[in-house]
Amino acid sequence: MTAAEKIIIFDTTLRDGEQSPGASMTKDEKIRIAKQLERMRVDVIEAGFAAASQGDFESIKAISGIVKDSVICSLSRANDRDIARAAEALAPAERKRIHTFIATSPLHMEKKLRMTPDQVFEQARQAVRFARQFTDDIEFSPEDGSRSDMDFLCRILEAVIAEGATTINFADTVGYGVPELYGNMLKNLRERIPNSDKAVWSVHCHNDLGMAVANSLAGVMIGGARQIECTINGLGERAGNTALEEVVMALRTRKDYFNFEVGIDATQIVPASKLVSQITGFAVQPNKAIVGANAFAHASGIHQDGILKARDTYEIMRAEDVGLSANKIVLGKLSGRNAFKQRLDDLGIGLDSEAEVNAAFTRFKELADRKSDIFDEDIISLVSDEQQSHEKECYRFVSLSQHSETGERPVAKIVFSIDGKEAVSEGQGNGPVDATVNAIESVTQSGAELLLFSVNAITTGTQSQGEVTMRLSRAGRIVNGIGADPDIVVASAKAYLSALNKLQSKSEKLNPQL
Ligand code: KIV
Ligand code: ZN
Repeated sequence: MTAAEKIIIFDTTLRDGEQSPGASMTKDEKIRIAKQLERMRVDVIEAGFAAASQGDFESIKAISGIVKDSVICSLSRANDRDIARAAEALAPAERKRIHTFIATSPLHMEKKLRMTPDQVFEQARQAVRFARQFTDDIEFSPEDGSRSDMDFLCRILEAVIAEGATTINFADTVGYGVPELYGNMLKNLRERIPNSDKAVWSVHCHNDLGMAVANSLAGVMIGGARQIECTINGLGERAGNTALEEVVMALRTRKDYFNFEVGIDATQIVPASKLVSQITGFAVQPNKAIVGANAFAHASGIHQDGILKARDTYEIMRAEDVGLSANKIVLGKLSGRNAFKQRLDDLGIGLDSEAEVNAAFTRFKELADRKSDIFDEDIISLVSDEQQSHEKECYRFVSLSQHSETGERPVAKIVFSIDGKEAVSEGQGNGPVDATVNAIESVTQSGAELLLFSVNAITTGTQSQGEVTMRLSRAGRIVNGIGADPDIVVASAKAYLSALNKLQSKSEKLNPQL
């Protein structure tokens, strides 16, 4: 076996992932995810699309100033304005990449861009030449590459490499690729383009036919790609992108076959998955590979018996390798600050200051008063909650009482503050959550439409905290609010208020980009 080459892991959760309807994130949320990606040792973080909105621009700039160990990248269309905006947002980054793209398929050029192939060719070349002023690290993507004409692709990609593009990202934009065909297209391009060895080749696959991971790995094995673009939990447009956790664990678990190195700290995969799911409100399906709740659960007697005798009878990976701690009781009411801090460290949760640790510890004590066993998942959730509360808030939950009885219409009375002033409101509804939301709305009159209401138990057992996501939409903006509490009606009230806070915030963009 020859020495293993490295596969570059390029994460686009904050850009392509955010393009999923309803997954748009605030700047603070993006920073939290970027820090987790850095902790996981992702090679390149695509932090957004600077020209798409002021919110995206500011997020990329902030992440560029904070993250040191990963290359920070911004997407830009192939024009000077977008590229200059990307360069400005990336200015604080120690290592930066500009990722520029233009569509190359006949369909996209004719119907979407209304440009001739010659115009597209010239614009791509100009864009890469312009981007070179700002950095030597330039990625070029032929959008809808897998449905493009091979001769045209050879011509345009040779030209952008000659202009200085250092990564060529072969995009399967609509998830049309089939592993063998996609891999062979990439192989042909690399063989036919005379200067192909001057660039790293990359795969970017969408999951419309459920083949994004297979296509990406075929791109590596058949096509010679050495960068994989992916997202946490496979988040992304329509059916999503290649799932980071799946390609990384496939490369590691079947190193005997693939023989590549990946720099990822896999024990950070589950914390990253939980963070992204919590922030976006996109729940992970229980049977999802690697990060689903059942991914390491064995229900059948035969399997359980086998596992007890020899773990590898039914397990090809260990849960601990991806950072899954099986609902261990870790702390309780009597645990002190040091034990709490130690647990944060063990979980890889870096809080920025002692003040933040103290605030999280206070929340932990409050929770421990109401819930005897505190699990890792509770800690992750309360820290997220604490960090979320740093964002500028207009509405803040204070207390709630509600009454429901069979045959009677439930009523709720909620106290919450509006810019520091307390408001008390009562409402009725079909159920206690409906009554609570009606009580809030009778004061706030937000006029928002509720798109999604979901409740998840954070851990097992009826003692578990409920984590609620409320997705609201108003005037074309979609936001997610999240709240956690052992009382799911309180969690719902917190989630609703958190979503209203986000609707208030002006810096967020109107819609996911593109
Ligand atoms: O799917 C796609 O084509 C993209 C490009 C911008 C790389 O996301
Ligand atoms: Zn994409």
